[in-house]
Amino acid sequence: MIDKYVLALAALLALPFAASADNTPIKAKLYPDIITALKHNADARRGQAAFRVCRGCHLEDGQQRAKSQTPLLAAQHDTVLIKQVLDIKAGRRHNPKMHPFTDDLLVSTEDIADIAAYLSLLPPTPNNQVGDGKHLAHGKALYERDCASCHGRNGEGLAVRFYPRVAGQHYAYLVRETLESRDEGRRNTDADMVRVLKSYSNADVEAVSDYMSRLRGD
Ligand code: HEC
Ligand code: HEC
Repeated sequence: MIDKYVLALAALLALPFAASADNTPIKAKLYPDIITALKHNADARRGQAAFRVCRGCHLEDGQQRAKSQTPLLAAQHDTVLIKQVLDIKAGRRHNPKMHPFTDDLLVSTEDIADIAAYLSLLPPTPNNQVGDGKHLAHGKALYERDCASCHGRNGEGLAVRFYPRVAGQHYAYLVRETLESRDEGRRNTDADMVRVLKSYSNADVEAVSDYMSRLRGD
């Protein structure tokens, strides 16, 4: 466990973040909030209790109704959960709906690390929403050429580099995040990923998202 966090901290220092107001990539500064969370001795049981603030939208165990654009959180990497929630809390990721629920009065940085430990240990959600299945060969070709190097051949992601698991995520959410990333509305998107996505049509995004939604991460 400790080794994983040391590697994650090292990766954090090397990350280019697209977090400036005009969305030009800026070299990562030290992000004290993420570092505090990574160093925290996380406790999944405390995390389960702290997660009650989040259940109104993310439901009991990080699952969500199939049609929803709210992401599934079960089985996501703890490092990814920490970074994404803290990015939202600090305004580095655009998410006005969730932002008020990340206030210090509701969840501390340590609570967020505990929640991440809890969610990362849950089994992946079965029966996630998938696409129409009509362009899977195209989606697979795009994914293997452009996305697998970071998100993994089976969509498993990579915890120490903060690469999200995309396997088994809801189709509608994947489409939305990929479009937001391409069009630079998400703000915290990896700059190399944005470069790849710039040539993608909406149909390409739908095909690759359908393929990702069907991956199982192992
Ligand atoms: C008001 C509804 C709402 C509440 C409450 C809420 N969330 Fe969210 N959350 C969302 C929505 C909607 C998104 C996706 C938004 C987007 O596309 O940027 C999201 C995204 C996320 C993500 C990013 C997932 C990913 O794959 O990148 C994480 C992690 C997360 N929420 C965790 C939490 C935690 C932890 C809490 C409680 C402290 C919480 N959320 C409370 C609505 C909510
Ligand atoms: C250079 C590595 C890299 C490549 C290549 C890459 N991504 Fe990503 N991707 C990331 C990172 C890092 C994030 C998390 C955003 C952040 O925190 O900066 C992410 C986030 C995402 C998300 C949001 C996941 C979530 O749970 O919110 C989606 C969807 C996604 N990528 C799709 C793609 C697709 C489709 C491709 C190929 C066309 C791709 N990515 C290529 C690194 C990459």
